[in-house]
Amino acid sequence: MTGIPRLAAATMLVLAPIATFAQDVPFLESPDYVVEAMLDLAEVTASDVVYDLGSGDGRIVIAAAVDYSARGVGIESDADLVDLSIANARAAGVEDRVRFVLGDIFEKDFSEATVVAMFLYPNVNRRLRPILLQQLAPGTRIVTHRYGIDGWTPVKRIKKGGRKVFLYVVPESAEPWAGR
Ligand SMILES: C[S@@+](CC[C@H](N)C(=O)[O-])C[C@H]1O[C@@H](n2cnc3c(N)ncnc32)[C@H](O)[C@@H]1O
Repeated sequence: MTGIPRLAAATMLVLAPIATFAQDVPFLESPDYVVEAMLDLAEVTASDVVYDLGSGDGRIVIAAAVDYSARGVGIESDADLVDLSIANARAAGVEDRVRFVLGDIFEKDFSEATVVAMFLYPNVNRRLRPILLQQLAPGTRIVTHRYGIDGWTPVKRIKKGGRKVFLYVVPESAEPWAGR
């Protein structure tokens, strides 16, 4: 190879697109007792598909698979956290029941979820409202840690060790929640 093609190849490598996704909230772990409280409040069973929007190290979907025999999917914008989640799932022996998707929660399809978990900021919860209503079937349970969803009325709210957890159930008609 002459000098010029080598330079061209190096330039192409440098210019190759690098996938980056929004991180609207930094990674903060839900403590194990909160994870348990969220999954208990949602009354997760083996027939559920639990999605965690912003899944961090995968702990919520892994716990759903280990402790409740549910299936789980995590959506996470940080590639290192996705890799860590896959390793954690493998270590917990549930890699066949969970998967982790690298990407932006505002761009992904989570319509198969029967339970959705979120530990996000209030403004992010607010922005997600129309997407949740559009994608989720009536009866889908949504559990949130720390912050509720502005304008929506939780079915239940609990406090565990000073941490707030909210439960919402998607209504038959979006009318009660639409436009709020
Ligand atoms: C507060 S942490 C919660 C982690 C985990 N759900 C838990 O409760 O332990 C929020 C996570 O959401 C991820 N995140 C933030 N914005 C995101 C976005 N737009 N799309 C996908 N993931 C996002 C962050 O990288 C972070 O891991």
